[in-house]
Amino acid sequence: MPDPSHRFAGRIGLVTGAASGLGRDAALALAAEGARLVLFDLDAAGLEAVAARCPGAVTVAGEVSRAADIERAAAALDALGPASLLVTAAGLLGPTRPLAEVEEAEWDRLFAVNVKGTWLALKALLPRMEKAGGGAVVTVASGSGLVGNAIFPAYSASKGAVVLMTRSVAVSHAMQGIRANTVCPGQIETPMLRGVFEQLGERAAGVEAMFRAKNPSGRFGEVGEVTAAVLFLLSDAASYINGAALPIDGGRLA
Ligand SMILES: NC(=O)c1ccc[n+]([C@@H]2O[C@H](COP(=O)([O-])OP(=O)(O)OC[C@H]3O[C@@H](n4cnc5c(N)ncnc54)[C@H](O)[C@@H]3O)[C@@H](O)[C@H]2O)c1
Repeated sequence: MPDPSHRFAGRIGLVTGAASGLGRDAALALAAEGARLVLFDLDAAGLEAVAARCPGAVTVAGEVSRAADIERAAAALDALGPASLLVTAAGLLGPTRPLAEVEEAEWDRLFAVNVKGTWLALKALLPRMEKAGGGAVVTVASGSGLVGNAIFPAYSASKGAVVLMTRSVAVSHAMQGIRANTVCPGQIETPMLRGVFEQLGERAAGVEAMFRAKNPSGRFGEVGEVTAAVLFLLSDAASYINGAALPIDGGRLA
């Protein structure tokens, strides 16, 4: 009988955005349950701190929207063995302004990181999972990928693309034994959420109060509450869950 506390023993995978927030927490939890990981992020020092707590992990510092950097991560995976897990958590918030006030360079950067970065990770991992006989993908989208957002509309558009990219993989790769699901967190206490309020300046207090008031739970989420769902969706217990876009938001979108 396999140890239920080690659902990922012997599994190999890639986590992007592993130096902070949701990616960091997912990496720590996966490693604690036996996965051997390649940890990818722009933040080399942050990656090393996480890797020190993930037995057998390898770090690759790089830019998620650069194919050559993701290929380095894929080569590191190949050195570990057949990869069957992918979590894409690298992401940016981008400008908190109406669409008409977003600069072209801001739009391009946001879509490069959130959309192209997710695609590049899938492009690298899907053929490897096919070769390995299957695998599980969890992309990190957002509740703002399911409904429109008036405060950060460009981000909302980019996360909507992540939702449908993931669902497309779910339908295109099911017969290869690959499941792809996406999590759609609401406001979760991470450095990114604090960054939202910093960007909003004097509007921050009002927006934070509005976010809390609109949430049936009356609070923001903790990273562990997202990680629990990510690990479930990656695990064999979710063997018939494919193409889900799961809100993790205390009921905000209910
Ligand atoms: N925190 C929230 O409330 C929340 C809600 C919904 C969705 N999300 C999504 O969750 C994911 C993780 O966010 P978080 O809150 O943990 O934020 P975070 O800022 O704590 O972590 C994001 C990580 O991604 C890395 N990263 C950013 N751009 C990169 C790039 N170009 N190349 C490589 N790495 C890069 C950062 O260095 C950082 O380590 C993001 O995709 C975010 O959009 C967060």
